[in-house]
Amino acid sequence: MENLFYVKGDWVPQSQAKVSILDHGFLYGDGVFEGIRAYNGRVFKLEKHVDRLFLSAKAIDLQMPMSKAEMTELILEACRRNNIETGYIRPLVTRGEGDLGLDPRKCKKGASVIIIAVPQLSLYGDAYERGLSVITASHRRVPPQSLSPSIKSLNYLNNVLARIEANATNADEALMLDLQGFVSEASADNLFIVNKKALTTPPTSTNLPGITRETVIELATQRGYQVREQFFSLFDVWTADECFITGTAAEVGPVAKVDGRPIGEGKPGPITKELMKAYRDLVMSTGTPIRKK
Ligand SMILES: Cc1ncc(COP(=O)(O)O)c(C=O)c1O
Repeated sequence: MENLFYVKGDWVPQSQAKVSILDHGFLYGDGVFEGIRAYNGRVFKLEKHVDRLFLSAKAIDLQMPMSKAEMTELILEACRRNNIETGYIRPLVTRGEGDLGLDPRKCKKGASVIIIAVPQLSLYGDAYERGLSVITASHRRVPPQSLSPSIKSLNYLNNVLARIEANATNADEALMLDLQGFVSEASADNLFIVNKKALTTPPTSTNLPGITRETVIELATQRGYQVREQFFSLFDVWTADECFITGTAAEVGPVAKVDGRPIGEGKPGPITKELMKAYRDLVMSTGTPIRKK
């Protein structure tokens, strides 16, 4: 059975799911998206993801063609149509079909809504047990002066370039610095370091305000760990007791090595492991039910 995707009002099999080559999402990365996970028959943090999608759209002056309630229902319907209990959902909203000009006013038919839903996605395979190997990319994160990192836009070329650098050295992930040289985030995840039972993560002025980041801050605080949001440098990463990344797709990913240097003992640290378990317990027990009882 093929996956069924929502494309501009219709549910179509994956092989027939198409958008116009004049869609400005395709031509210019002019659009926004979300990455959402479902666990155990529930969609985790659905309301927060839908809110962020609408904020991203507002920020790029993209008129959403439906309400938040309708978008929420479509995401749940995508899970139902694909028999998803545990899976990954990707709603995209593009500027829509226009002409070759950049001007969004040319996209007269309005935004295109697409929802992709697939049964499972394990991002790093066995790296969760051994810990991820991360390198620092030479490409700096696009500065907020040029593009707000809060906009989850369809233009990920900056992140793709970092990812290519990680691939070139067989690393699992790439860490990105901001223009000042402070740590920003990984190519598709936020980053934390742990020292003496205190967690530090960069402020979101230079990186995406991650929903997993926010969740992990709550979980750590509930467990009595201090959490600081402040800028830090590569020195602090290389010398940290522990390091981990967070993201909807990555979940909580322990980092064992950065730029060839072992972090702590070069394996997932105890606080990271505690938070990995706390996160797993939370995602398995909360969320919006896919099926109405
Ligand atoms: C650039 C970037 N940073 C961080 C994250 C993590 O955000 P979240 O935890 O909301 O998935 C993502 C993933 O969406 C991302 O693309």
